[in-house]
Amino acid sequence: MPKEDCILVVDDEVVIRELMSDILTDEGFTVFSAPNGRKALEMIRETNKFVVLFTDIMMPEMDGIELIREARKVAPSLVPIVMTGYATLETARAAVKEGAYDYVLKPFNLSEIKMAVSNALERSRLSNENARLLEITELFNISESIASIRSEEKLLEFVLGAALEKVQATRGSLMLVSADGRTLELATCTGLPENLLRTKVDLESSISGWVAKQVQPLLVQDIRTNPTVDKMSWQLTENSFVSVPLERKASPIDETNIMESAIPRVIAVLNVTEKRDGTTFTERDLKILSIVANHAAAALENVRLLRDVEDAQREMVFTLGEIVETRSRETGYHVKRVAEYSKVLALKCGLSLADAEVLRMASPLHDVGKVGIPDAILNKPGKLTPEEFEIIKTHSQMGYDMLKVSKGRILQAAAIIAQQHHEKFEGSGYPLGLKGKDIHIFGRIVCVADVFDALGVKRVYKEAWELDRILDLFKQERGKHFDPEIVDVFFDSIEDILQIRTAFPEPLED
Ligand code: C2E
Ligand code: SIN
Ligand code: SIN
Ligand code: FE
Ligand code: FE
Repeated sequence: MPKEDCILVVDDEVVIRELMSDILTDEGFTVFSAPNGRKALEMIRETNKFVVLFTDIMMPEMDGIELIREARKVAPSLVPIVMTGYATLETARAAVKEGAYDYVLKPFNLSEIKMAVSNALERSRLSNENARLLEITELFNISESIASIRSEEKLLEFVLGAALEKVQATRGSLMLVSADGRTLELATCTGLPENLLRTKVDLESSISGWVAKQVQPLLVQDIRTNPTVDKMSWQLTENSFVSVPLERKASPIDETNIMESAIPRVIAVLNVTEKRDGTTFTERDLKILSIVANHAAAALENVRLLRDVEDAQREMVFTLGEIVETRSRETGYHVKRVAEYSKVLALKCGLSLADAEVLRMASPLHDVGKVGIPDAILNKPGKLTPEEFEIIKTHSQMGYDMLKVSKGRILQAAAIIAQQHHEKFEGSGYPLGLKGKDIHIFGRIVCVADVFDALGVKRVYKEAWELDRILDLFKQERGKHFDPEIVDVFFDSIEDILQIRTAFPEPLED
């Protein structure tokens, strides 16, 4: 057999080996496969007949990168191509630097593979560096956009788009399984009426439901010869379609059986129908869609995990803020109002919605350092001595020191706010004595919000001020204590500010 026709496929996943073999055999190559690097290396040593090597990266026994390194010693003319998922894309890039000629992204599409092979063959004849560079740049562009998907909605849209593209279909949908596992909701669709979005269907009476319950993909060549399926059909009027489950990775807890029915194993179902060329779906389409579904399930879980972590962070921030207020016998409404005032001011100052939202979430922690102030001073029912006030002043730096170690966006913003909310625009504040725009915009904003609110409520050491008196102080301190621009913004926003004050009133005294 001519040397040029032999390709070796190495992957620990049997479905990948089969799929690649199918594709490459159809293209007229002779395909050999191995489940790991060690076995592959044996085969390469045994017969130096392979011209292209497709290898997975992460495999037991010997990983793809080591395999490439070793294989090139034995067979320098062998052209290695790495097969990678999004998860290991960085490693794949490293592999390209280490001598892999190229990489292909899982889930595969036929033309990508064909292209990779024909390029590899050309490479082994011509060594065309420029063409290779060009192609890799193109791949980089695609993958970058995938890695940046942070929202569930965008991810689902992307997955459906990719699925339709890979199998050349024109209609499809993604249905999300509800938390209790009883219903499915149409999350995104292509080629279906928009008004069906968010429609819920019962697991018992739909094709997607069957797929979710059985944890089985379904390939139907002709719905007319499949009466059972026909009866379950929901919106799928085409003759041929594929439905695949997006399956959660099994966790140890599932294997104990205790939780088995509590958390649904299938988190979503991907449906596609209507081939562009009017043909019916094949087993290969099913395999491709199963791989897409695998990756999509992992990505979906990641996005949700990230969201849960952020929710938890937000909750923690508020809880900490409330603890502070309790310690100093203030109400939790103070931090809520300061948070809302700060967001209004941030938006009016021209900050982005994202920054304003970070500020809203971080500002309740401005006084977190007060937890380190002795009770006798913090809750002293009267004027502080200068010495006592010096001790109170340490709360800004203490808050900063508590929060600065966190890497999260919200907590880092909170650290800056804790440190700088008592700086004064003219430079006479504490702890650093910063001046003007050297004070972080978050600090300048929270300063205005905090003083406005502190003056309006009763504290152990003071009565609540009348609104007019408060506003007079802001006019007087414009450009002194406060950033003049923010004071202007504050007066411009006074209606919104007062509305917030009414929405979160202090509880009546007992
Ligand atoms: P806080 O009660 O949250 O007050 C925040 C800021 O609002 C104060 O920062 C101050 O700029 C402004 N503010 C509050 N009440 C008044 C007031 O009656 N008159 C004026 N002109 N401004 C007021 P400041 O001064 O740096 O104080 C920081 C923290 O020190 C206060 O936070 C409070 O916890 C404590 N503190 C300040 N003065 C006294 C006091 O006389 N007695 C007690 N027990 N604590 C005090
Ligand atoms: C790999 O097994 O090397 C890649 C994992 C994946 O498919 O994301
Ligand atoms: C976030 O910034 O979105 C999360 C906050 C954190 O991780 O501390
Ligand atoms: Fe403070
Ligand atoms: Fe405060």
